[in-house]
Amino acid sequence: MKSHTVVLLAGDGIGPEVMDATVKILEAAKAPLSYVHRLAGQAALDAGKDVLLPEDTITAIKEHHVALKGPCTTPIGGGFSSVNVALRKTLNLYAAVRPVRSLPGVPTRYEGVDLVVVRENTEGLYAGVENKIMDGVVMSMKVATRDACHRISHWAFRYATQRRRKRITVLHKANIMKLSDGLLLEEARKVHSKEYPNIEYRELIIDAAQMRLVMDPSQFDIILCENLYGDIVSDLCAGMVGGLGVSPGANFGEDDAVFEAVHGSAPDIAGQDKANPLALTMSAVMMLNHLADQAEDERCRVAAGKIKAAYGKALLDGQKTRDLGGELGTRDFTQAIIDRLDG
Ligand code: NAI
Repeated sequence: MKSHTVVLLAGDGIGPEVMDATVKILEAAKAPLSYVHRLAGQAALDAGKDVLLPEDTITAIKEHHVALKGPCTTPIGGGFSSVNVALRKTLNLYAAVRPVRSLPGVPTRYEGVDLVVVRENTEGLYAGVENKIMDGVVMSMKVATRDACHRISHWAFRYATQRRRKRITVLHKANIMKLSDGLLLEEARKVHSKEYPNIEYRELIIDAAQMRLVMDPSQFDIILCENLYGDIVSDLCAGMVGGLGVSPGANFGEDDAVFEAVHGSAPDIAGQDKANPLALTMSAVMMLNHLADQAEDERCRVAAGKIKAAYGKALLDGQKTRDLGGELGTRDFTQAIIDRLDG
């Protein structure tokens, strides 16, 4: 059987360090993958490309359907707009999935956290419709379409069924944003009652839900929300299980999938061998499981299992990067995982 081609986008800041670590782990686990390297973000400009998201990057992902991506820097305020948002829109990667699980050997305030945030990835305030009305007055428009609300609801319920999850909670602010958040509720209710009545369905106003989340995350199973809420809720949830260094993610469209950590390019620690590569490595494990499902290739599932067991052992042995209270640098932590790979 052939290997699966994955497009690698190392990205900016700590991106190349965590990508290098993850590829070393994938290779040591004998994951049946081959790689095509492409550029995105500041890295593309630095390499002399005239755009942040070069055409050959998009073409490669459309050809191979799977990418593993490091973080890309987006300046606040002026400068270029987000390459992440552009990538998600161009490839129509409408479902962002962020599993949040307690890890062995990573003590936090919470035990046994196991939930998944599903976020609509193409609309809301991230649609990028912003206008300056006049000096001192600006407007950002929140976009919601029935089609997008329907497809993300459908995606979330299908995912819940495939993963044997029991409950979906939609977080919203439809008491204020009656039309936009209201549309998501309308579609989620429809999908639930018509197609997935066996999954428990609940709606919570987002602010109250944040309080409930930090008081008792075990009330949640799958959380479904629009774009901006999903972005914020995912980081809050990341904090419950050890922070951004251990929070993986994936973006799915109909044909393509891009796997990436929740964290950004962390310019404060870039190039210093301090980054935790685990979030990207865990995203790569999600990628292997996706390939195992799509291509019915058990070799991918075996490699995913091996990597998961190895980083679990490393953490239990107290082998940790600084963000988790340990002392290891990126490279030594990577080696600690590789040393614990069986077979
Ligand atoms: P950030 O996630 O880069 O960093 C927040 C804090 O977490 C920093 O103190 C950083 O050192 C720490 N951190 C992040 N990842 C870490 C890791 N793997 N190991 C250890 N510590 C880690 O968020 P920030 O500072 O808000 O954003 C920096 C840049 O990244 C911005 O330009 C932002 O737009 C971009 N960004 C890109 C994302 C993407 O490409 N998907 C996602 C989020 C932000």
